[in-house]
Amino acid sequence: VAPLKVGIAGLGTVGAEVVRLIETQARVLAGRSGRGIRVVAVTARSKAKKRSIDLRGVDWAKDPIALATHPEVDCFVELMGGAGDPALSAVEAALNAGKSVVTANKALLAKHGIKLAKSAEKHGGALNFEAAVGAAIPVIKTLREGLAATGISRVYGILNGTCNYILTRMEQEGLSFAECLKDAQRLGYAEADPSFDVDGHDTAQKLAILASLAFGTKVAQSAVYVEGISSIAPEDLRAAADLGYRVKLLGVAVRTAKGIEQRVHPTMVPKSSSIAQVMGVTNAVTIDGEGIPPITLVGPGAGGAATASAVVADIADVARGIRANPFGRPVAHLRDTTKAPMERH
Ligand code: HSE
Repeated sequence: VAPLKVGIAGLGTVGAEVVRLIETQARVLAGRSGRGIRVVAVTARSKAKKRSIDLRGVDWAKDPIALATHPEVDCFVELMGGAGDPALSAVEAALNAGKSVVTANKALLAKHGIKLAKSAEKHGGALNFEAAVGAAIPVIKTLREGLAATGISRVYGILNGTCNYILTRMEQEGLSFAECLKDAQRLGYAEADPSFDVDGHDTAQKLAILASLAFGTKVAQSAVYVEGISSIAPEDLRAAADLGYRVKLLGVAVRTAKGIEQRVHPTMVPKSSSIAQVMGVTNAVTIDGEGIPPITLVGPGAGGAATASAVVADIADVARGIRANPFGRPVAHLRDTTKAPMERH
């Protein structure tokens, strides 16, 4: 069988690690997919930048659209980020050409997820985005495939590694918010613009994606109530601790009589609860399914290696020919509950 030919747009920490994993895990991946996986073309902002990966024999496309429509590329891997262009046009171009797309871009999906899912369904390519939520934690697969037969009443958790890292260090070491944020940036957890993390928007984007998978709602970040952690000081965390609580930035999507409520805000959780034990860059997602006890997934929610792990698993699914509906159900059946009133503001 011919190998799956992959084109990668974006060669930052994640992109470089994806190239490396495809090479070092080649045998395991071929075993799982029944065929090889080969990176045939790439593109990134700077061609001249020194990188630790070997790109000999790999074509350098002049821009993301050229890569997305590259005649050799079967699977377009988008790791540039950002809700708009160039990521949007490139992903659209790949899907319209009937190619499969793997992306880690939560901002793009939270804004244009339905449009892109429609295009994938129309033209027959896969649209996989496991790395967009919870990095290495297989939460998309769990909701889309593992729980396909189960009604879901609530999905909630810690979805931003940067915020949880900051809250953990502020509590444990009494450090200032600014100091902890700087470290999160240095460690490669934070977004290019870290206000996306600390103001809760990154969590909201991920929550909107999870809610679509869980409830068949249209993906829409605009439907999420958002409050971040930037005004929290070490004293607030100490005061909460004195009362037996810990502060976590939670994203919660829940089915109510009035519609699907989606919210992100700092929450006091009892220290004895399992979510309170989730420290550092770790993420945790709990899914309440109907008729089964809750399922909790815990693991690394940010960082190059954790994100690349999910990206490569998605590529392996494409190689294998697994093609789920992007949001777990046909796009025509996704409901618009974005205008449903929320019970909490
Ligand atoms: N900035 C994100 C986080 C990266 O801190 O969780 C992973 O999406």
